[in-house]
Amino acid sequence: MSETAASPNFLPSMPGFSTRLIGWQRTHGRHGLPWQGTRDPYRIWLSEIMLQQTQVATVIPYYARFLERFPNIEALAAAPVEEVMALWSGLGYYARARNLHRAACAVMEEHGGHFPVTAAALAGLPGVGRSTAAAIAAFASNERAAILDGNVKRVLCRVFGIEGFPGERATEERLWALAESLLPENAGDIGIYIQAQMDLGATVCTRTRPACEACPLAAQCAALATGRVAELPAARARKTPPRRTVQVAVVILNGNILLERRPPAGIWGGLLALPEIPEGTQVETWAMHNLGTDQADARALPTLVHAFTHFTLEIAPWRIDLPTAPRILAEPTWQWLAPGQIESAALPAPVRKLIHVALDALKSGQSFNPALHEG
Ligand code: ADE
Repeated sequence: MSETAASPNFLPSMPGFSTRLIGWQRTHGRHGLPWQGTRDPYRIWLSEIMLQQTQVATVIPYYARFLERFPNIEALAAAPVEEVMALWSGLGYYARARNLHRAACAVMEEHGGHFPVTAAALAGLPGVGRSTAAAIAAFASNERAAILDGNVKRVLCRVFGIEGFPGERATEERLWALAESLLPENAGDIGIYIQAQMDLGATVCTRTRPACEACPLAAQCAALATGRVAELPAARARKTPPRRTVQVAVVILNGNILLERRPPAGIWGGLLALPEIPEGTQVETWAMHNLGTDQADARALPTLVHAFTHFTLEIAPWRIDLPTAPRILAEPTWQWLAPGQIESAALPAPVRKLIHVALDALKSGQSFNPALHEG
């Protein structure tokens, strides 16, 4: 079966992708960083761990201090972990420091003190994930291995117009496959290519306010061409908010509507709203207890769905017509509103809407409609 652009397995291609990036890196990338220009996997590994979630400028002084105290893997493995933690202090994400020490011990014990330089072996060290392993292997031994950190994901999602949330497994797998397919043919170019990807994401294709005018991939960029740079990569899909249901009463006596002031805390705090009928309570029973009448003529009105920020409220209203005044006409929190007062009263919008629906139903005698959804 042939694959189409919509197929999840479809891998777009872009001739010249790596060539353009490499060319850009030579003239516009970052050069002369303290961990560049070495093939020592110990030094490269240390820099890559420090640079995880941390800016270059922050890392530079830590990197220098660390290497002065621990110039090689033997020195680091022999040190007490407390000393490693102390030198790391201020750099944050301290699991990295603990793993650093554990990895140094593992290199001594499991690799005879020889720092591994293949991505597969590096990925077996504590604190070294697939992308970090690839970066170290590329810089230390020209292994053609793809990286996929947050910056690279952002660049690929924008350039190739990839819609899914990159934290989602299927999208991430697709991005890995794409990253692998884009590697330069020549292993001698892999170091500069990886550095180019890192530099482009950090200095041009930034999360906010990217410098598209300075981007070597601008002419190929799907996000730029379709005006979606700000939308890609996609944000995590929001979970559907929980739903709550509530029954409310639209009590009508001589055209006046009964409202109740809400408690100060909680939704619609301090505003007038329709009285709530507790869950599981029959409307007639509620009217008997709260209004002191057994003459309530209750009819269901269409449900109203109202979206709050963190939940969705499904309001099931009952229109209760009172043919005569009930025994209980006043409570401290109650207020009867005449139809002419409804527009100017401090009412939440859905409450005003429910009152209008109830009054219209009263006029036309209709009810029992399908659910009303706020537009
Ligand atoms: N971020 C992660 N690795 C990096 C590197 N080698 N150079 C610059 N920034 C980086």
